[in-house]
Amino acid sequence: MNKLVGAKIIGVGAGVPISVVTNADLEKLVATSDEWITTRTGIKERRIVSGDETTSGLATEAARDALGFAGIEPADLDLIIVATSTPENLYPSTACMVQGAIGATKAACFDMEAACTGIVYALAVGQQFINTGMYKNVLVVGVDVHSRFLDWEDRNTCILFGDGAGAFVLQAADDDRNDMLATYLRADGTGGHLLKIPNTGMGYPRAEVTPPIKKVDRFLQMQGRQVYEFAINAVPEAVRTAAEKAGITVADIDYFVPHQANRRIINSAADKLGMTKEQIVSNVDELGNTSAASIPLALWQALRRKQIKTPAICALVGFGGGLTWGAAIIRWSAVDKRAEQNTKVAET
Ligand code: UT7
Repeated sequence: MNKLVGAKIIGVGAGVPISVVTNADLEKLVATSDEWITTRTGIKERRIVSGDETTSGLATEAARDALGFAGIEPADLDLIIVATSTPENLYPSTACMVQGAIGATKAACFDMEAACTGIVYALAVGQQFINTGMYKNVLVVGVDVHSRFLDWEDRNTCILFGDGAGAFVLQAADDDRNDMLATYLRADGTGGHLLKIPNTGMGYPRAEVTPPIKKVDRFLQMQGRQVYEFAINAVPEAVRTAAEKAGITVADIDYFVPHQANRRIINSAADKLGMTKEQIVSNVDELGNTSAASIPLALWQALRRKQIKTPAICALVGFGGGLTWGAAIIRWSAVDKRAEQNTKVAET
């Protein structure tokens, strides 16, 4: 077998809706309180689409931002993978819509779905195309607009989610560099009923079916407590296994970048892994659970806040519907090419 080509991670980007919905706003919709939401989840506010904001629009914004960070043009892209559970249509794929919007004319495109773990799966898939030498530049986007699939009268679920998109750019290394140190992907289809958005695809019942279905239930349904128990075990297991695959120990990990579902899940997993407060990357307070977008959005914000000192070994770990879970151990050393450019201009 030929030597595998290393994958560099050269960009990260974000696209979030303009409209902020606070816990106080939700107090007007359902029987809840800022105090309950804050103590049970850590969420203070989230962004929700309004006006003409869409899944593909948010994904396009994140894609442009990540390409700007990476300093490459849309025409340089060979492949676009979009991880989403909430596409605008069955087809065209969201990846094709992004491609058309940014003018990535030579990029192949497809969507994939692994719920909130989608971005970890998509990174692993994108990496394969680079490792084999098939493609040089791969854009990976995680995007979800759960607000369209929430029952805004159900306090158990509507307080948890926010909309958003996050993206990474992978590039084939022309030297020995490899930033994708290991990935570990898991699923347990027997737990699918614990977290689902039913009746949105072929399962959408037709009016003429017998017996006639009066009400089509197409909103997100979750057994919160069971998903919580699953998550607090799955996250540490995924990080430990991925670290082992990378040939490092958990103690070698600099930052823990988990799916942003609930601050209690994040803290419990971090405790089990022996991570300090400074190592935890979290913005669940500001964006809520943005599903497939949450990991790149958390990393993106931590870089802007200068929490992350590079180069850094980061454990990205996702969990969610399917059930799915998984982790990617990455080395983050990318520098925003726009900032570099601005520094050069300022120096001249
Ligand atoms: O990305 C997808 C992955 N999803 C997740 O990771 C979610 C995992 N689960 C969770 O984060 C937590 O289970 C929740 C935050 C959803 C719920 O927290 P909990 O501590 O597990 O609460 P609970 O479901 O056991 O409910 C406790 C009480 C119930 O009242 P009773 O039956 O004890 O009287 C609920 O009806 O809290 C009530 N409750 C609320 N009260 C005020 C549930 N939601 C609310 C609410 N405001 N929004």
